[in-house]
Amino acid sequence: MHENMNFDFDGHPDRRMVPGEKWGRYAGRDILPLWVADMDFPAPPAVLAALSARIEHGIFGYTHPWPSLIDAVVDGIARDHGWQIEPDWLVWLPGVVTGFNLACRAAGAEGAGVFTATPIYPPFLAAPANNAGRLVHSPLVLDECQQRWQWDRAATLAAIAPYTRLFMLCNPHNPVGRVFDEEELRWIGEIAIERDLVICSDEIHCGLVLDPAKPHIPIAMLDREIARRSITLMAPSKTWNIPALYCALAIIPDATLRMRFRRVMRGIVPEVNVLGFVAAEAAYRDGGPWRAALLDYLRANRDRVVDAVSAMPGLAMAVPEATYLAWIDCRGAGLTEPVAFFEAAGVGLSDGRFFGMPGFVRLNFGCARATLDEALARMARALEQRPRHALDHQR
Ligand SMILES: Cc1ncc(COP(=O)(O)O)c(C=O)c1O
Repeated sequence: MHENMNFDFDGHPDRRMVPGEKWGRYAGRDILPLWVADMDFPAPPAVLAALSARIEHGIFGYTHPWPSLIDAVVDGIARDHGWQIEPDWLVWLPGVVTGFNLACRAAGAEGAGVFTATPIYPPFLAAPANNAGRLVHSPLVLDECQQRWQWDRAATLAAIAPYTRLFMLCNPHNPVGRVFDEEELRWIGEIAIERDLVICSDEIHCGLVLDPAKPHIPIAMLDREIARRSITLMAPSKTWNIPALYCALAIIPDATLRMRFRRVMRGIVPEVNVLGFVAAEAAYRDGGPWRAALLDYLRANRDRVVDAVSAMPGLAMAVPEATYLAWIDCRGAGLTEPVAFFEAAGVGLSDGRFFGMPGFVRLNFGCARATLDEALARMARALEQRPRHALDHQR
């Protein structure tokens, strides 16, 4: 039991009443949006109170990060992940996507390779070319016995050709929901040391670990030599559901790498806006009880998705260890366009094709349970009502 059980994740404001990407996509259509990665819940009361107080003050002049904000972040990362960072290591950013695009430049990826494993959050796939680099990749593979997504180690080593400069890691992973363990992270660190790579570790989902037995480990925490070549990206945006406030952090222990990163930002990357700073301070300092209650709610939502999907003919998924995202394999269902099929059934999902893995869909279960249950019922009904021959054909 949490000290504060008053957080309400079941009833949320009608998101159709304000402009927004998630619900706007299907405006006027009876399609439940379970696609883009934000949740349907209002931000924590502590964050809303801090924002209200700051708005009440009425002055929005240029503002740099202040000591209590920096303390809240440094203490929050130490408390939640056991990683003691130095305030000097922080570089504030208006977004994590900005951060990994800058990492390509800071790592010297121009004309060189940038490695990532697929499937992956789509902006990873675009970042190398945005920065005059070249994407090199290998697939993650599903271990059928363990029902767990794993690194294909031989394929990873083969893909990292000599001209690769940067290893782009996503941990916890969007979309497969893995929390990579110490052995896997050490293996990545060793590759980086051997091949002289910079590691950019996108850890935006680190506050959303659902399985308490699998804690998040920041890769830079493991070893000095790994830390020296790492750019870790974190943000309060996913955990406390404030993505449009655009406040993120690059944590760069090495002074030379940090200087290169700051240099490629110069004149291009704006400061974080003051409301993003205010929300970040409140979230890191006071957002713990809300996060604990959220994780309970998400865990139960995840279990509903896993149960429902396992009963749907032709669909399969591994249990996500973190995030509010389910990565569903539809290849056994004989659907040529799974996203269009489920949209026609009244459920909006993300297309695996854009993550580098066609035949899969991503379902966002960061929503009220009633919405989720209705969406899962629609999906099950649509699959059951399909002409039999579609599935028979596949078998
Ligand atoms: C792995 C990952 N990185 C980055 C982002 C977006 O970060 P930002 O909005 O701060 O650019 C997302 C959003 O879904 C994500 O899943």
